[in-house]
Amino acid sequence: MTSADYPVVVYGANGYTGRLVMEHLRDLSVPFIAAGRNREKLEAACRLVPGIEDAKYEIQVVDNTVEDLTKLLTGRKVVCNTVGPFMRFGPPVVEAALRAGVHYLDTSGEQHWVLRLREEYGKDFAKTGLALIPSTACMYGLSEIGARYCLETPGVDSLDMTEVAQAVPTVASAQTILDAVRYSSSYLQDNELVRYPGIETSDIVTPSNRVLKASNWGGTSNPIWFAQDGRVRNCKMSVAMWNQELYKKELELERAYKVQFQWIPDEQLYGILDVMATAITPGTPPRERRQVHRSIDVCVGSGNNVMVKSTMIATGGYFTTGLLQAYAARRLISETPRKVGFASPSEVFGHRELMGSLQSYGYAAIKVEPLV
Ligand SMILES: NC(=O)c1ccc[n+]([C@@H]2O[C@H](COP(=O)([O-])OP(=O)(O)OC[C@H]3O[C@@H](n4cnc5c(N)ncnc54)[C@H](OP(=O)(O)O)[C@@H]3O)[C@@H](O)[C@H]2O)c1
Repeated sequence: MTSADYPVVVYGANGYTGRLVMEHLRDLSVPFIAAGRNREKLEAACRLVPGIEDAKYEIQVVDNTVEDLTKLLTGRKVVCNTVGPFMRFGPPVVEAALRAGVHYLDTSGEQHWVLRLREEYGKDFAKTGLALIPSTACMYGLSEIGARYCLETPGVDSLDMTEVAQAVPTVASAQTILDAVRYSSSYLQDNELVRYPGIETSDIVTPSNRVLKASNWGGTSNPIWFAQDGRVRNCKMSVAMWNQELYKKELELERAYKVQFQWIPDEQLYGILDVMATAITPGTPPRERRQVHRSIDVCVGSGNNVMVKSTMIATGGYFTTGLLQAYAARRLISETPRKVGFASPSEVFGHRELMGSLQSYGYAAIKVEPLV
């Protein structure tokens, strides 16, 4: 077998998300490499993937270094990077993707990481004809789709976005949420990215008229994506968890970071943050339940004399992430991407096509209605 026989590499394949990416790749008949740092864990994880019996795949052990990853990626077409928090572990993977000449997808939801990709790697990926697409995931691939439906109405220049989610964070997700408190984040106001002074909380009303406390949740990827869309002047997003303890934990950690942690060197701080993350999620949670883990994304798009609203209901944030990664990888192995360099999932694959793929799996439905 040559590397061309396995065009897609799932990095972090034994993780909760990696397993779901493999499940959907197998379903879409895409051969893949299951890569990670521990063979036993990779073998055990692969055994748990439904349908793995007829998947075409190979396991490869790799260190999180540019050299090792470049060797692994050379000759392939796409890497699906699921190893987060991305500020900690992402840089060697992007660098290796660039050196090996493969398209890069990840599951990040961290605005500071998305910005770093845009600033540090966007131009180099564009020069080599490669796509660099972070957040090819539930957060914020789904909300972006809803926003782009609103933008189909001419005159819409402002996107007010909310999400309500019921999720069990995995180990790395809990670490990622806590890591994010250390970085500043922004929203788009009148064409400029404006920094939040800290965590901003607000009350949002769900479609069923519940009032929930939301936060800016690290800023989200949407303001960064829409900052490069000439139609959009304003974009802001708030996220509320049905588990209303989570935003309180975010606020507590922000306070602790400001008074205690900000002077601690990274290597020690990560240890402290990881202990705190364990308090949220002690181990790998069981497979998501599609009857329980649902999200609602609402976007109100407005302009001087137009107003339109999209409401998307979705199930299984990790399932949808697995599908979005696999669908994107399948497209990238057989197409020239519509956009190269730093790009959002909808810019490269089309919001209607992404919605179609989610609908075909019964993962999401959307309603778009003019309000004015
Ligand atoms: N935006 C979204 O909607 C969304 C959705 C899903 C996931 N995510 C993000 O995706 C990331 C992964 O989530 P997950 O649910 O798959 O978490 P997980 O189950 O904890 O898996 C993490 C994976 O990363 C690997 N890893 C951790 N540290 C590593 C290191 N130093 N070197 C190499 N590999 C390392 C782990 O390998 P070991 O087992 O060997 O440690 C494991 O394969 C998180 O950042 C999460 O926030 C985002």
